[in-house]
Parts: sequence; structure tokens; C-alpha cells
Amino acid sequence: MDLSTSIGPQFQEATKYGRGRPVPQAPGWASPPPPYKQYESYLDRVELPQAETVAGPGLWATIAGRRSQRRFSGRPLALTELSQLLWAIQGVTGEVPGFELRAAASAGALYPNETYVVAQAVDDLAQGVYHYDVRGHALGLLADGDYSADAAQACLGQTWMANAGAVFVWGAVVARCAWKYQNRAYRYLYLDAGHLGAHLQLAAQALGLGSCNVAAFFDDEVARLVGIDGRTEVPVYVTAVGHPD
Ligand SMILES: Cc1cc2nc3c(=O)[nH]c(=O)nc-3n(C[C@H](O)[C@H](O)[C@H](O)COP(=O)(O)O)c2cc1C
Repeated sequence: MDLSTSIGPQFQEATKYGRGRPVPQAPGWASPPPPYKQYESYLDRVELPQAETVAGPGLWATIAGRRSQRRFSGRPLALTELSQLLWAIQGVTGEVPGFELRAAASAGALYPNETYVVAQAVDDLAQGVYHYDVRGHALGLLADGDYSADAAQACLGQTWMANAGAVFVWGAVVARCAWKYQNRAYRYLYLDAGHLGAHLQLAAQALGLGSCNVAAFFDDEVARLVGIDGRTEVPVYVTAVGHPD
């Protein structure tokens, strides 16, 4: 198949930085879109235990041991484990004037990706779809119930996902990044999400858990699952985490 005149190469070409082409400028630091999504209310709010920030297994062994895991035992994750995983991807780990910095890097420190968790089997956490409140290190319940089959079906029927303890979904708030980078932002949403997926896999490995990143999904179904419109906030990436079988 010759892609040369189709949308992929056109996008790549149109969003190139090049000498002689103007680099898009942020319209001014006075009015950036907020880096945190605020819900008026959650159905319930669950404070997460404080995450470990010092001790842990060595990085090299963790990298060497990472493998995609698609066979899960169904044993529930501990809430402390879920807390640790969320901290490892988006926990606030630093501050510079005007920015709270998070565990995984983000273009321009704009952090366009919101994290949602489909809690399938987590001790001390009701099954449901949650939003991660980064600042509060808490989970906000958006929909209660067992959504494990919906998550797997939304991911092209990858039924193995239903045995995971939790399915993480990232939705990118486009304006948060496009405000500064315009159409080039679409590159950065995905690059940022890749960092999140990599952090999550390594954190899972460090906890003795298994994980698998998933990009094969029906976009509109994943958007519906986590309650986003799929246009101003687009689903970009999914990762299932659980105890290996
Ligand atoms: C962007 C991306 C998308 C992926 N999507 C899927 C997927 O939809 N389903 C799946 O089973 N594995 C998926 N994977 C996992 C890859 O198949 C896996 O990383 C690859 O086979 C290498 O194996 P390893 O991760 O065990 O080293 C994805 C990985 C990446 C990085």
C-alpha cells in the first residue's frame, strides 16, 4: 500500500519544524489551559495511600525483567499497589515556578493526558471507572460496576484484559497541548502517553506485577467507557495491569 499521499505523511510533513518555517509560539503565559481536569463532583472519592518514593528494586533488573504479560491470575491488586502505579506515572514529584512537575516527562510540562482506571479487581476499591486526581493523589468514581467486559470489548475484544486487576486509560485533552504547539501537539500527546505506558510497565515490574500496553482499540468505545467526548479529549493509550498467572 502506498501511503505517500495519505493523511499520515501529510500530517508528518505539515507539522515539521524546519529552518525558514515559523515555529508556533504560545499565545502568552497568562492564559494557559489548566493542567488538571476538574470534575464538579465524583460519585465517590477514594484517597490513595502514600506512595513509596525511595526504596524499591534496582532499575537495571526491572528493565531486564519487563515483558508484556497477557495472562493474569485474577488475584486482586492491593490499593497500595494501585497507588504506587499511579504515582509512578503522574505523581507530583517537583515544582518550578508556574509548574507542578510529574513523574513522567511531558512536552512543555503541559501534561495533556488524563488517567482513568477501570478497577476490575482491587482490594478495598469498588469496581468501577475512576478518574485519577493527580493533585489530591485520589481516585474519583465516575461510574460504578463491573466494566471489565466493556474494557476488553472496546479493545478489539482482547478478552485476556478482563482478568487484569486494573485497566489504565489515557485521554489527551488536546487544547492543553495545542495551546502551545498547535497541530504539532498531536505528536506530543502520543509521545507523552508512551512515557506514561513505559513508566507504568516498569512500575508494575518493580512490584512483581504484569502489564501489557494496548493501542488496538475502538476509539469511540474507549472514549465512552471513560466518559470523554473523543474530540476535545481523545483516547490515546491503554495498559492492563495484574498479577501474572
Ligand atoms: C504502542 C503499543 C501498542 C501495543 N498494543 C498492543 C495491543 O493492542 N495488544 C497486545 O496484546 N499487545 C500490544 N502491545 C504490546 C506489544 O505487542 C509488545 O510490547 C511487543 O510484542 C514486545 O514484547 P515485550 O513488550 O514483551 O517486550 C503494544 C505495545 C506498544 C508499545
